Amino acid sequence: MTPKHASLQLRPRRLRRTVALRRMVRETTLTPDDFIYPLFIRESGEKRPINSMPGQYQLTLKDIAEEARQVAALGIPSVILFGIPDKKDTCGSENYNPQGIVPQAIHAIKDAVPELVVISDMCFCEYTDHGHCGIINTPDSEHYTPNLPHGYLLNDPTLELLGQAAVVHAEAGADVIAPSGMIDGMVEVIRAALDSHSLEHVAIMSYAAKYASNFYGPFRDAAESPPSFGDRSTYQMDPANRREALKEIALDVKEGADILMVKPALPYLDILAALRQSYNLPTAAYQVSGEYSMIHAAAQQGWLNLEKTALESLMCIKRAGADMILTYFAKEAAKWLNS
Ligand code: PBG
Repeated sequence: MTPKHASLQLRPRRLRRTVALRRMVRETTLTPDDFIYPLFIRESGEKRPINSMPGQYQLTLKDIAEEARQVAALGIPSVILFGIPDKKDTCGSENYNPQGIVPQAIHAIKDAVPELVVISDMCFCEYTDHGHCGIINTPDSEHYTPNLPHGYLLNDPTLELLGQAAVVHAEAGADVIAPSGMIDGMVEVIRAALDSHSLEHVAIMSYAAKYASNFYGPFRDAAESPPSFGDRSTYQMDPANRREALKEIALDVKEGADILMVKPALPYLDILAALRQSYNLPTAAYQVSGEYSMIHAAAQQGWLNLEKTALESLMCIKRAGADMILTYFAKEAAKWLNS
C-alpha cells in the first residue's frame, strides 16, 4: 500500500523494531577494554572511603595488590595512580622520591599483576603544601621572578622537576606517564628526560586539553589537594574555549605525546569530537569525579537509574571519539557489562 505521506517510505523505526535488529545496527560498543581505573593511595593510615564519591576509597599499600588483581580479573587493562603522601612541601619533593608512595605502589602492582598497564598521573598538586601544580613565585624562592605576581605558578622551574619525577616513576615500572598540570612544554621535557634515562619504551598520555573545571570538586577531597589560595585558571584552560584546545593538542602532538586526553568528558564532548576528527593518535577522555558523583547523588535520591545512566554516559563518551575512558565507574561498569 502506498503510504499516505511520501516521506513515510523512509521509516528509520524499521531497524529499531527488535532487540536483534538494534544489535545489528549498533555503531558503538562498550567493553571493559575501554576503561582505565583511577586509584588513590595514601602513604599511611587505613583504607578510607571517599565520602563525596560513593564506592571509591583511599587505599593503602597493603590493599593495592588485591585491588590490582580485582581490576585485572574484571578485564580492565589499566589503572592510573594518584598518591597521597604524608609530607608535603613547597616544591613537592615527595613526587620525585624513589621511595615515595607512588613508586612503592607501582612496584606492588607490578609484583602482583605484571600485565596490568600502570599509568602514573604526573602532577605536583598532591605533593605541594600550597596545593598548586608546581613551583610558586615567592620572594624567598630561588626561582623568584619579580616581574611575575606572587603566587604565580612558575613554568620552567616546574618543568625541570616534572622531568625528574617522571624518570622516578618510570624507573619504578610505570608503563605510561600522564602529565596533568597543563604546564607549557611538559610533554617535550618529560620525553627528553625519559629518553636520556633509557626509558624510551615508556609512553606519554598527555592531559592535552584540561579545563579549569568545577567538576573536579570531589577529587580534591579524594586526593587531599585543593589549592590553598587562588585557583588553577592561570594554567588550566578556560571552559569557554574550543579553538585553544586544538592549539594545546597540536603542541602536545608536536612534543611527542603518544595518547591525547580531554578532561572533563561529558560537558566537553565537542572538544573530544574535534580532537578525534583532526588527529590520529589514540584518544582518552577523563570522566571526572564530579561527573561520577552527580550520577551517584541523583541515583541515591531515586531520580536516576545508576547502572543505566552510568553506562549511557560512558557509551556517549566513546561515541564522541574516546578510545579509552578514565572512569571511577570502571569496576562497576565492567561487572554490569560482563553480567
Ligand atoms: C591533578 C589532577 C586533578 C584531577 C586529575 N589530576 C585535579 C585538578 O586538576 O585539580 C581531577 C580528577 C577528577 O576530578 O576526577 N592535577
